[in-house]
Amino acid sequence: MSPRTLPASDPAAIAEAAAVLRRGGLVAFPTETVYGLGADAFNPRAVARVFEVKARPSFDPLIVHLARAADLARVSPSDDPRVSALAARFWPGPLTLVLPRRPEVPDLVTAGLDTVGVRVPAHPAARALIAAADTPVAAPSANPFGYVSPTTAAHVAELLGLAVDLVLDGGPCTVGVESTILSLAVEPPLILRPGGVPREDLEEALGSSLEVAGPAERPSAPGQLLVHYATRTPLRLLAGPAGPPPANPVRAGLLAFGPPAAAAGYAAVEVLAPDGSTGTAAANLFAALRRLDGAGLDLIIAEPCAEAGLGHAIMDRLRRASARRGDADGDG
Ligand code: TXA
Ligand code: MG
Repeated sequence: MSPRTLPASDPAAIAEAAAVLRRGGLVAFPTETVYGLGADAFNPRAVARVFEVKARPSFDPLIVHLARAADLARVSPSDDPRVSALAARFWPGPLTLVLPRRPEVPDLVTAGLDTVGVRVPAHPAARALIAAADTPVAAPSANPFGYVSPTTAAHVAELLGLAVDLVLDGGPCTVGVESTILSLAVEPPLILRPGGVPREDLEEALGSSLEVAGPAERPSAPGQLLVHYATRTPLRLLAGPAGPPPANPVRAGLLAFGPPAAAAGYAAVEVLAPDGSTGTAAANLFAALRRLDGAGLDLIIAEPCAEAGLGHAIMDRLRRASARRGDADGDG
């Protein structure tokens, strides 16, 4: 059965969803990046249900979502001037900042870390919901742990079903990949996950170059788990444009960046960016992966894209989706 689903543009639906959050329920809601599975961040029992529903390991902390940057003091005591500069430029938007936490934030939210991940989403329904609930909202992507993130309300219903109390349908997500996670809790600041705000833009705002966390930082940055965003069908990431499909296995699908030079022989083809832009590719990425995953293929062959702008986030997700489960040092 499908979970109760209401249009995110309806103020009455927002009010109902906020009431669900306030009484400890779970609401799936649209953000500009992907759909989130929200709970009142200050209600540990509600947050525990999020972990249960996602089958998510409790060492993996949740991002806390605020309606506005001015609410930051509710979860973090930070007076770092870089926070105001970054917030002024990128909030609301797809940037998560890892900052020192307030002790009132439940340990389950932060996985016991002394930091908290915070962002102000740009989607008007997300902001309206959080403002109406009048509490910070802890929300991971609304998918079972390790699987491709949902970018439509239908994906959420399919993945989580009745485990969610209410779904707000705000249409397809416009950014399509998760937020960029930047830690200001280490010096120099470190990108823990490439995402919707390009690294270049953060570097410009901070006036310094930034590194992206590698496998070495994995234990302190659980989002770095090698196998993540994975399709059930094995995925092979190519180093260049795709040629004809391999003779074996029989049914191969192609995830092409632009119009493919050699589509013949593939059982299914998805073109991420007919216009050649990484923004379009990011917006289409998860839905395309999901369609290929449902096409009964033996193998998904993915073309790479240029690692600039949103290309960093796309290649990060494709690399992880292609990591063999047996190679993972974490839960997939
Ligand atoms: O775009 C997004 O960020 C979406 C939407 C719903 O906002 N959310 C999302 O949440 O992607 P999730 O839970 O799927 O991924 C959050 C990542 C996790 O990998 C977690 O390890 C990392 O953020 N994270 C959260 N708090 C952290 C902290 N204090 N230190 C390090 N990593 C943290
Ligand atoms: Mg996720």
